[in-house]
Amino acid sequence: MTVQTQIVPPQADFASLSGRVVIITGAGQGIGKVFAKAFARCGAVAVIAERNAASGESVAKEIAADKGQAIAVTTDVSREDSIATMVAAVEERYGRIDILINNAGIFSTLDMRPFDQIPLAEWEQVLRVNVTGPFLCSRAVLPAMRRAKWGRIINMASGAVTMGRPNYLHYIASKGALAGMTGSMARELGPDGITVNAVLPGATFTEIERKTVSPEQKVRIVAQQCIPRPETPDDLVGTALFLASDNAAFLTGQCITVDGGATHR
Ligand SMILES: NC(=O)c1ccc[n+]([C@@H]2O[C@H](COP(=O)([O-])OP(=O)(O)OC[C@H]3O[C@@H](n4cnc5c(N)ncnc54)[C@H](O)[C@@H]3O)[C@@H](O)[C@H]2O)c1
Repeated sequence: MTVQTQIVPPQADFASLSGRVVIITGAGQGIGKVFAKAFARCGAVAVIAERNAASGESVAKEIAADKGQAIAVTTDVSREDSIATMVAAVEERYGRIDILINNAGIFSTLDMRPFDQIPLAEWEQVLRVNVTGPFLCSRAVLPAMRRAKWGRIINMASGAVTMGRPNYLHYIASKGALAGMTGSMARELGPDGITVNAVLPGATFTEIERKTVSPEQKVRIVAQQCIPRPETPDDLVGTALFLASDNAAFLTGQCITVDGGATHR
């Protein structure tokens, strides 16, 4: 079958994002890296809050070489002190925090195995990074967003939570929790002018090899989509930019699935 749709590089047409400061956790590679570049192309300052110092710095340099604004602040989202240091550095340098994208996660490094074989320490680590991380990061940026009476929090959950996918129960539990947290946070923060939404990507193929989708599963997943081609990080950019923009001011508490139509509602 010939697929007619093409990947169109996102355009810098979200004028309201210019000058905004966006913290993107885990932006040293994969989806977060593409987000950081896209926000910078829209004139936002991208804060790359990544645990891996080398990859974070490298993304910041790539953005600077493209005449965008970015800083890398080495951050471990599982540690409150590390997040506090990052947030203080951003506040000191820019005096504001407008957008937080809770993107860091234990994902591409996961081994697939039946849930009765997941060691407790691994279960706890996945929940610590994927659930406690977004809780701590969201909490840490609230003072700046409340001061401005404006803020956007975007949680990167996963379409996998609605599909009953087996063999990474800790990951599914973590993303289900994050999707659930989105609605509650939206209710608590609406009066402050802060919106909270989740993006649920389908299987998204980045530059990083991972074990969560086998080549056979990849073929099956693509065949289930209405748009039958592999999803890439660029496919998620438009949704993230829109949710962060002024255009989405009245949209909150939503889980938005971006999976080429693999699942419906
Ligand atoms: N790629 C997909 O198919 C897919 C699908 C659905 C959801 N997601 C979610 O989207 C997000 C990004 O996905 P990806 O494919 O780019 O993942 P990835 O595994 O390639 O990248 C994750 C990034 O998070 C960083 N990170 C991990 N632990 C951290 C910590 N404690 N503190 C700070 N940074 C940390 C890693 O160093 C890495 O740069 C993840 O939350 C993932 O669960 C991905």
